[in-house]
Amino acid sequence: MDSIRIRGGVALQGNVRIQGSKNAALPILAATLLTGDSSLLKNCPRIADVYAMASLLKDLGCSVNWQGNGIEVDSSRVRREEMQSEAVKGMRSSLCLLGALLGRCSEVVMEYPGGCCIGARPIDLHLYALSRMGVEFLETDGKLHATADRLHGAEIVLPKPSVGATENVILAAVCAEGDTVLEGAAREPEIEALCDYLGACGAWIEGAGSGRIVIRGGRKLYGTEFSIPADRIVAGTYLLACMGTGGNIFLENASGSELEAVLQVAEQMGGHICSTNQGIYVQGPIRPKAVSHIETAPYPGFPTDLQSMALAVETVGEGETVIEETIFENRFRVVEELRQMGACIEQMDERSVLVKGVPSLTGTEVTAKELRGGAALVIAALMARGKTTVSGCSYIYRGYENICRDFRELGARIISV
Ligand code: UD1
Repeated sequence: MDSIRIRGGVALQGNVRIQGSKNAALPILAATLLTGDSSLLKNCPRIADVYAMASLLKDLGCSVNWQGNGIEVDSSRVRREEMQSEAVKGMRSSLCLLGALLGRCSEVVMEYPGGCCIGARPIDLHLYALSRMGVEFLETDGKLHATADRLHGAEIVLPKPSVGATENVILAAVCAEGDTVLEGAAREPEIEALCDYLGACGAWIEGAGSGRIVIRGGRKLYGTEFSIPADRIVAGTYLLACMGTGGNIFLENASGSELEAVLQVAEQMGGHICSTNQGIYVQGPIRPKAVSHIETAPYPGFPTDLQSMALAVETVGEGETVIEETIFENRFRVVEELRQMGACIEQMDERSVLVKGVPSLTGTEVTAKELRGGAALVIAALMARGKTTVSGCSYIYRGYENICRDFRELGARIISV
């Protein structure tokens, strides 16, 4: 089931429930290690990256069991501090196990983490921040050895608001001796979700969601029950799809305030949006307008994870759009595939493209090369005339529970094959 087949040209119509957030679930799963107790995470998405994290936790000695759409993790027995190489290489977010395990054990050995090939993705900020807390790093045989005889609180300033490094500091700091003050922290909602979970376990954390987070370390933590919030990137994907196809949809559970920058772009594309406490109503335009300039930025800016989807929509926009990617290099791998569908896109430099909207795309065979670019190809196929086959869809399943089911609920003609 590595391909998705789509017959495009249908305006989306109906309700779709948004799955739990991947980027919240992964660090929270890592955080369950810190409690030495049992936690139940409800609304946890059943996606490949969560399965990989669950397998890493099991390998470390935790007991992990699915209960409907919840996952129970009991971390009372952690047996080993070396992580399975293959799972770590395939998933960058396994990096947050580093901070969590250091909270639990004095030594951790891991491969350099992988993930989608959307740029160099260095880990210098993680290493810098954790070394401020007393961790020593050594690289031998391509593996990273981390040791901390005594993890202590520290004043840390991140020169860039890295989401993963912020999470690693928080995870290590709740178990460290003394207070940690983190300046330049990332402000993504998933950081708040992680702190909400840890707070419910008994941790003392102030300032989550702002650039300055203070953590009082060393408090006893307990297991808890926690519900993973809705995935704003999945919600944004379906919202942008509706900008490209037209129609009326309701994104059940989605949070308008977390998607403000995306809603603004959607309105400039000609969409009508209404956010409520239950979700977001979206009405797509007959043909999207070209937004002159879309630039990605750390939260609350336009998310890099939705850049490829906005690009896909603007291939049929009325006018020209410059899309500027400021977070990750190599996030325009989808451009070549979109051109095969008839899109007119010029690469201006490494970080920006000029999209000249054409009246319509034409279905053909294209290949997903990474998670978000893959979802953008599905959107392009929904907008296109005729049939499209998207191959390489295992990337898409890393982040979307069932993208075919969801779009079928919205009336699209889409199947996995
Ligand atoms: C997380 C998200 C990912 C999202 C990204 C940016 C998860 C599991 N993944 O990734 O979906 O696209 O945030 O919103 O939550 N950087 C360094 N050195 C470091 C770490 C990062 O230079 O040590 C740079 C990166 O190359 C990038 C920027 O900082 O340019 C932001 O990266 P970061 O926020 O760390 O992304 P991730 O946590 O990997």
